[in-house]
Amino acid sequence: MSDDARQGYRDTVAASVTDPAGFWGEAAGLVDWVRAPRQVLDDSRPPFYRWYPDGRLNVCFNALDRHVVHGRADQAALVYDSPVTGTGRTYTYAELLDLVARFAGVLRDLGVGKGDRVVIYLPMIPEAVVAMLACARIGAVHSVVFGGFAPAELAARIEDARPKVVVSASCGVEPSRVVAYKPMLDEAVRRSEHKPDHCVIVQREQLQAEMGERDLDWAQLMHPDAVAPAACVPVGATDPLYVLYTSGTTGRPKGIVRDSGGYAVALSWSMTNLFGVQPGETWFCASDVGWVVGHSYIVYAPLLAGATTVLFEGKPVGTPDAGTYWRIVEEHDVVAMFSAPTAIRAVKKQDPRGELIEAHDLSSLRTLFLAGERLDPDTWQWATDRLGIPVVDNWWQTETGWPIATNPVGITLFDLKPGSPTLPTVGYDVQVLDERGEQVPAGTEGAICIRLPLPPGTLPTLWEDDERYVSSYLSAYDGYYLTGDGGYVDEDGYLYVMGRTDDVLNVAGHRLSTGSLEEALAGHPAVAECAVIGVRDALKGQVPRALVVLKADVDLDAGAIAALEAELVQRVRDEVGAVAALRRVDVVEALPKTRSGKILRRTMRQIADGQEAQVPSTIEDRGVLDALEPVLRGEE
Ligand code: COA
Ligand code: AMP
Repeated sequence: MSDDARQGYRDTVAASVTDPAGFWGEAAGLVDWVRAPRQVLDDSRPPFYRWYPDGRLNVCFNALDRHVVHGRADQAALVYDSPVTGTGRTYTYAELLDLVARFAGVLRDLGVGKGDRVVIYLPMIPEAVVAMLACARIGAVHSVVFGGFAPAELAARIEDARPKVVVSASCGVEPSRVVAYKPMLDEAVRRSEHKPDHCVIVQREQLQAEMGERDLDWAQLMHPDAVAPAACVPVGATDPLYVLYTSGTTGRPKGIVRDSGGYAVALSWSMTNLFGVQPGETWFCASDVGWVVGHSYIVYAPLLAGATTVLFEGKPVGTPDAGTYWRIVEEHDVVAMFSAPTAIRAVKKQDPRGELIEAHDLSSLRTLFLAGERLDPDTWQWATDRLGIPVVDNWWQTETGWPIATNPVGITLFDLKPGSPTLPTVGYDVQVLDERGEQVPAGTEGAICIRLPLPPGTLPTLWEDDERYVSSYLSAYDGYYLTGDGGYVDEDGYLYVMGRTDDVLNVAGHRLSTGSLEEALAGHPAVAECAVIGVRDALKGQVPRALVVLKADVDLDAGAIAALEAELVQRVRDEVGAVAALRRVDVVEALPKTRSGKILRRTMRQIADGQEAQVPSTIEDRGVLDALEPVLRGEE
């Protein structure tokens, strides 16, 4: 790649932050508007910024209808590939539009209108994509909940979003078992103070759900005689398209609001420029629709771009083997794929020499993108050597909706440096700050922050909670968004993201809150207090570990303690979900704290990881920490 192209990109990024309205005004032309915005950025109420405030559009129209109108009716839009059920199906743009318009009609007939919420709790089946786009079609706000979450987590989201309708399925299919979703949904609705009017249930072959009073059968509702398709409802660019809950440090999830216009523009721009995928090409993002990566890069971005997207119901290994990804690439002529480092580590473990890679024709594949957690240099090197294509780290968060930093392969490829997601992308003025809010020199670690305004597509606020938006993200440094990640920038401007500076866990690319795991543990009658820390794991990046102090009047022998520890592991599985992957609970005498009562999770984590521990001078009782060291190091 030429140095000119690289300098050109750096100049574009610089211009996009000095003149955001100029850059994003031009990019707005990538979507079809019902009313084109005359104003690009409303910055009259800092720290609240709004993109395209007077624009009107429909995101579903942009993802489906316009492609059908412009000659893509018979092109594949969605390829459903499900090794766990041994099924698959390709939907053209015309077919997907038909399903979406019909399900939008179903929702409308159930009384769902513009601004109403619909919770979607579905496995990786086409109905998930259909339901999301159907909401977008009628201006309803979807909130997808990851299928691996247990009833308490689902209940918290139902209570906060107050949906009129919940869309779910009889079951999900995991490699080891069929997971009954409906009893979990029933339990969540029972726990939630808010009750949806209806639950629409997709009955799957693997398990029939028992239907209750408020339950309706997806297949019956979708019969062409039963429903008239719904037309697109124009919405304001700043109207919410969805709310996606993500984990903070407390047990209460944060409802990340995504607007409509800014998101459609940013994703459209990113698909071709950052990911290098052109209309008509096939793209495979192996995430889950329950996460932001799935929202943006399984559903919205590829369809907005007129590409073909693969919806994969399976795992990187074991369904049936570590060659599944490569089979999909070969079968569908995938040009670029997106996964998580943990998935590649799982593949590497099963197929270290890459024999299953060799066994497939991967000549269509130009790039592998990885995100969701830090991409460790070993995994990067292995994938690079085995695949012989650029392996591109990209860093972002549920909050931002699209990459903050990546190698912009659609424009030009910068030299890849292991451990770095390369450069901040357009619209993101990324700065690394010290405790006083001063920018640190190159090579020095600090808090990674983004100067306001954030670009289009990022969160304008939290669902019905402006105050929490400000206190969580904007109050640490005036005029900056706090990412919660720490890291540094090198002499070439490359960013290195080293990990969270708060207590958010990242388990196999899944973001989890210490708070929700701790709440589940603390709910046990024998537990006085507890702490959860994320410790290093060779496969999952991090796994949680729990330390539990029992109530003074609980006196157990060794056998009973072991039984209680197992019970607590099960409790977290039941309350938070299997995905939390908590395997180890230790009953201990006391937890190390500061004099003001803050539990020293970071210090404990450092000890568990075998790092040099930073013990704050404000520690209340050093003896407590010393006593815990062997447990943390796994010596006891
Ligand atoms: N519905 C129900 N249960 C689910 C689930 C879902 N959607 N997703 C995961 N689970 C369950 C699993 O069945 C498993 O249960 P088990 O303890 O009974 O075996 C548990 O949650 C943990 O699952 P998982 O995180 O998938 O771990 P694993 O050990 O089964 O597999 C990997 C390890 C690395 C293969 C897997 O974590 C993986 O594919 N990671 C990639 C994640 C990813 O793409 N993240 C998106 C970020 S961009
Ligand atoms: P989520 O909101 O679930 O996408 O999780 C976002 C968090 O995952 C970030 O704040 C980071 O801590 C971590 N993360 C995601 N992508 C990367 C990456 N490429 N490098 C380092 N950390 C990452």
